[in-house]
Amino acid sequence: MDTEIVKLMRDAGDAPAIARAGEVLRRGGLVAFPTETVYGLGGNALDPEASRRIYAAKGRPSDNPLIVHIAEKEEICGVAREVPEAALRLMDAFWPGPMTLVLPKKDVIPRETTGGLDTVAVRLPSDEAARALIRAAGVPVAAPSANASGRPSPTRAEHVIEDLSGRIEMILDGGEVGIGIESTIIDLTGEEPEILRPGRITREMIRQVCGSVAVDPAVTAAPDPDVRPRAPGMKYRHYAPKAPLTVFAGEPEKVAAEIVKRCREEISAGGCVGVLCSEESLSVYGALAEEFRGGSGVQTNAVEGPERAASVDHMPQEGTYAARGEGSRIFPVCLGKRGDTAAAAHRLYRALREFDGMGVTRIFAEMPEERDFSEALINRLLKAAGYNVIPV
Ligand code: TXA
Ligand code: MG
Repeated sequence: MDTEIVKLMRDAGDAPAIARAGEVLRRGGLVAFPTETVYGLGGNALDPEASRRIYAAKGRPSDNPLIVHIAEKEEICGVAREVPEAALRLMDAFWPGPMTLVLPKKDVIPRETTGGLDTVAVRLPSDEAARALIRAAGVPVAAPSANASGRPSPTRAEHVIEDLSGRIEMILDGGEVGIGIESTIIDLTGEEPEILRPGRITREMIRQVCGSVAVDPAVTAAPDPDVRPRAPGMKYRHYAPKAPLTVFAGEPEKVAAEIVKRCREEISAGGCVGVLCSEESLSVYGALAEEFRGGSGVQTNAVEGPERAASVDHMPQEGTYAARGEGSRIFPVCLGKRGDTAAAAHRLYRALREFDGMGVTRIFAEMPEERDFSEALINRLLKAAGYNVIPV
């Protein structure tokens, strides 16, 4: 299948493209589109065949339910059987926005969409192109993240093209997303609201609206293989880069010294290392990169804009650094200033994909500081690391 790629200008001129994409969805086709969190892979949520196609395109297990996206708050009544008081308060506070609510499902939502569950996860995204697409489709849109199953979620259209080109009808390219990690999922089917997946909307924000909130144990600790997590997707090894990732926690200087030591070990064993670091420690790894490189220049996400875009676009493909024996064997990627959760969340998945593309043999990361929505950031980082954390 040819996948049509449409660049969105984010203005009124996008209307014909979005109308066409809506038509594709109505006819049972699949369209990837930007949201404020990550790119989604959309299909008609009311059509079991469209949901089957979503699972097939992603290579996703069909017991892992899809999130149903709507364009207006009122549309929740079309997909959920009951909308409790707490849901209404949360919708008022955080919709449109990066929050997903799990509620009892209406019969119109087929079990193919909900992975066999009797509940449905509903989200009203704030990205205007996403909302326009849902309106144009005229139906609720089932959309998981638009990555191949097991890869980091896409934060740019290029990532979707990498994973799904040739497998879906259309990709709407709306540029880089804002947040960079997936929505907060809150289960409202029990006594107390419960966070199943942390996101930009934090437990403190939810507590202020609902009075109290529980957190699924799978959010903060390595999942117990004998306990079934409440969000089925949480049991899969998600967000995983190809190279093993280790997170180092402790006092920043000691962490940097330990990572430098481990980098040297990996390089003497013939490997190449990707390092996820803060702006404050970038110079330490930069110096090490120089030592293992003839030339100059550190790959950094610190500077957004043309220079950075150019450096990334010209990044060598898989394995070439090592294979040609040129360049460095250490690739530090800066996730922003220490404690800047928004910057780190925005860059994390892209950095992991870049490491995949470079064919590094190991990835080392500094544990982010606890601040703002760092619970979500740390959750994704630890999942990518398979909960491999070394205290320093
Ligand atoms: O930010 C987001 O939520 C993005 C964008 C595209 O909206 N979507 C997304 O979808 O992250 P996905 O499929 O990658 O993750 C959906 C998660 C899975 O962990 C799934 O198990 C959980 O939501 N989920 C979906 N329906 C559920 C339900 N009825 N009960 C519990 N968990 C559910
Ligand atoms: Mg996903």
